[in-house]
Amino acid sequence: MLPTIDDALKELEIAGGINPGPWTKHSENVGIAARNIAEKIPGMDAEKAYILGLLHDIGRRIKFGPVDIPTHVYEGYKYCMKKGWDEVARICMTHSYLRMSDEFDYEPESDNEKEIKKYVLNCEADDYDRLIQLCDSLATDYGFVILEKRFVDVTRRYGIMDGYINGWEIAFDIKEHFEEQMGCSIYDVLPDIGKTTLLTPKPWRPPLKLICPTMEYADAIQEYRKVFLESGDSMDGCGYLRRYDNSQDWIDEIHALEHIETTPPNWVTCSQFILVRTEDNKMLGSIQIRHHLNDFLGKFGGHIGYSVCPSERRKGYATQMLRSILPECAALGIDKVLITCIQGNEGSKRTILKNGGVYESTVYEPEEGVYLERYWIDLSDYQ
Ligand SMILES: [Fe+2]
Repeated sequence: MLPTIDDALKELEIAGGINPGPWTKHSENVGIAARNIAEKIPGMDAEKAYILGLLHDIGRRIKFGPVDIPTHVYEGYKYCMKKGWDEVARICMTHSYLRMSDEFDYEPESDNEKEIKKYVLNCEADDYDRLIQLCDSLATDYGFVILEKRFVDVTRRYGIMDGYINGWEIAFDIKEHFEEQMGCSIYDVLPDIGKTTLLTPKPWRPPLKLICPTMEYADAIQEYRKVFLESGDSMDGCGYLRRYDNSQDWIDEIHALEHIETTPPNWVTCSQFILVRTEDNKMLGSIQIRHHLNDFLGKFGGHIGYSVCPSERRKGYATQMLRSILPECAALGIDKVLITCIQGNEGSKRTILKNGGVYESTVYEPEEGVYLERYWIDLSDYQ
């Protein structure tokens, strides 16, 4: 079964929100290349080819930041199987392995790779597998390029690996296989390939990074703290940062709270992240996941706390942080995330609603004397 084109485009857009990067534009171009080639081949379904191309890398939605080959392959497979899209799930498994069973002449160590090996050894590549493998090599985020150019680019980035040249030969064989059926060159149906092949754009850098705090950001952390102390705003989602005028002390506490053995009694283990602008290393926001709910958190605090630097609000940073952190919550075994916000805090409420929060109730928190709205976000899509 396959999703519709509209659903596939929507999936890609959502995934790009979770893990922004050039991979979504690349996926769109793989889809276009696959569709244009399939249109010229009798018996191939161009719409199916387009959808397979759009979603072949969908496993990259699993987390914010770089995702390695076996992880994106297997996560994509699992995600599509859960959705009932078995034909896309198959492409997730096969698209990175041009040499198919020959790729696995070794015993993989990771569980993901073991599953991939089992699958690929029992799979004979069909024309859709080959088409997406080929288009994966023809499509970049900035357009289409000839195979020779793509192979040199990838090799410059990662070096020569075992079986690489053999993989190139297979790609050229696949190209010929389709061209015979098309009666023309594959390059004839890839828009502007002559122009884009000559481009060498700078490697993409994420505009924002959501990372665990380190001393590299010691000054940015203190600047963040200072702005909150001066404005009197509540420093949410950063533990007891307000107490620490030395970033190292705060980072030490964060590491202690990651493990149950070093977490004080009555506290819960936590994961701490900060949102940093890559351009100037400014800390824009802070977000904390509490791994479990105790009495207080279950009523008032919730699983997640966050804040954004006052001068950087209304730019979507809180929404982005929350969206990026949800896969992490699922990986920690949380099925449903509880988030609370002070009644009347429209910005925070919008952030929660945009990430699928469902309102449950409003409760009175006597210590601060405030009413808190409780929302739940179901994480079954991230499991
Ligand atoms: Fe790809």
